[in-house]
This record gives sequence, structure tokens and C-alpha cells, in this order.
Amino acid sequence: MPSDQHQSAKIDWSPEGVPVSHRFDDPYFSIHNGLEETRHVFLNGNDLPHRLNAGFQIAELGFGTGLNLLATWLMWHEDGRRKPLSFTSFEAFPMAANDIQKALETFPEVAKIARRFLDHWSQGETNFDLAGLKVEIIIGDANTTLRNWPHKADAWFLDGFSPTKNPELWRADLLAEVAAHTNPNGTLATYSAAGHIRRTLANVGFSIDRAPGYGHKRHMSKGVLKDPA
Ligand SMILES: C[S@@+](CC[C@H](N)C(=O)[O-])C[C@H]1O[C@@H](n2cnc3c(N)ncnc32)[C@H](O)[C@@H]1O
Repeated sequence: MPSDQHQSAKIDWSPEGVPVSHRFDDPYFSIHNGLEETRHVFLNGNDLPHRLNAGFQIAELGFGTGLNLLATWLMWHEDGRRKPLSFTSFEAFPMAANDIQKALETFPEVAKIARRFLDHWSQGETNFDLAGLKVEIIIGDANTTLRNWPHKADAWFLDGFSPTKNPELWRADLLAEVAAHTNPNGTLATYSAAGHIRRTLANVGFSIDRAPGYGHKRHMSKGVLKDPA
């Protein structure tokens, strides 16, 4: 874990073994198979299996356990073509490597690549190549760090804790930065279907659709950056 001045995340554990943020009192992923939730919401919600052209850039608000990164890596690896892909994630409260390891043990599929990721993370590395996939984790409050990011994403994973518990990761000015850091025809996906989040995303420039959610969640949201008028 990056061992600088940033505070690390204090973790509680649900009876199912899912990490729960002590600070935000919210789980990092679904207790009903977080890996399948990631695939449904973020990978398919952004139509990634059909879009991974060379140089494709994914960006994420909320790195957490890295489960979304590792699920992306699995999809990219299974695709076989393995065109150059970059994954950048913004995280204010990095988790300790031993907590991440415990969280990911639930998913045998990700175990092998998780070990390679944790080799970097436990050394405090936030820029590394994960068996061909370029990874960058930007530590700090995304409300400050995103505006200085010099790139644009083709697909966004909006994965803060729930908007009621983590409103600072859903602020309108931050979501406007997300839009400003999105390539033409770029997309977003989030598990949240909250009306005020969908309205904000529409106001900052995305065309937003409601889609079937994962597990017990009826809906999720996905969007495409609108052409500037
Ligand atoms: C639901 S978890 C993300 C789960 C993650 N994508 C995964 O694959 O495990 C939300 C994350 O957002 C982070 N976060 C909360 N507020 C933040 C902020 N202002 N800036 C950056 N990250 C923040 C939390 O520390 C937490 O790791």
C-alpha cells in the first residue's frame, strides 16, 4: 500500500467476508458475488467486451480492493487479442495489502493475478504493468486529483460508496470533471440508479439510461457522453 501521508482505510468484515468501510459504513462490493456484480455493472455496462481497441483508457472513481481492475484484467486476458489497455483509478483511502488479499480470497478466479497486483501494491507502487495492462492508481481526494489528470477516458467506472454515505464522490463539480475527462463517445457505468445522480450526470453532459441492476438492485445507470451542440 502507498505508505505516504495518506490515511489508510479501516476495515470491518461482514459475516460473508466482504470488507466494509469503517469510515463510510458501506461494503466495498456486493455480498452476493462482487465479481459478477463488477462484470454486470462496469464491464457490460460500458460494453467493454466489444470496445477494447488498442490504447483504450478506463478510469475509475474508487479503487478499493482492486476487484474491478482484476475483473477487467481477466476479461482483457480472456479476449486473447490483449490490445494495449490502460486503467487509472482514483482513491483517497488506500486499503492495506493484507486487507485486500483477504477480500479477494473469496474469488478463486482472480487469485493468481491478485498475487501479481499485491506484489506491486505491498511495495507502495501505484504505477505498474500488470501482465501487459498499464495500471495507475492516483492517491488522494478525487475532487482534487481528477482535475489535474492529463488524460481522458473511454470508459468510466463510477464506484464510490453509496451517494448517501459518500456524497463527496458524487458531487456535481466532480462529475463535471468526469465529463471533461471523457473522450468523444466515451461511456460511464454505475450501480447507482438514484434519480439525483442520473440528473446530475445528464446535466454535466451524459446521455443517461437506466438498465437492469445486479442481484437485488432493480436498476443501474449507464451513459454516453453527448456530442457538444
Ligand atoms: C465502493 S468502494 C470501491 C470498490 C472498488 N472499485 C473495488 O473494486 O473494490 C469506494 C471507494 O471510494 C473511495 N473514496 C471515497 N471517497 C473518495 C474520494 N473523495 N476520493 C477518492 N476516493 C474516494 C473509498 O475509499 C473506496 O475505496
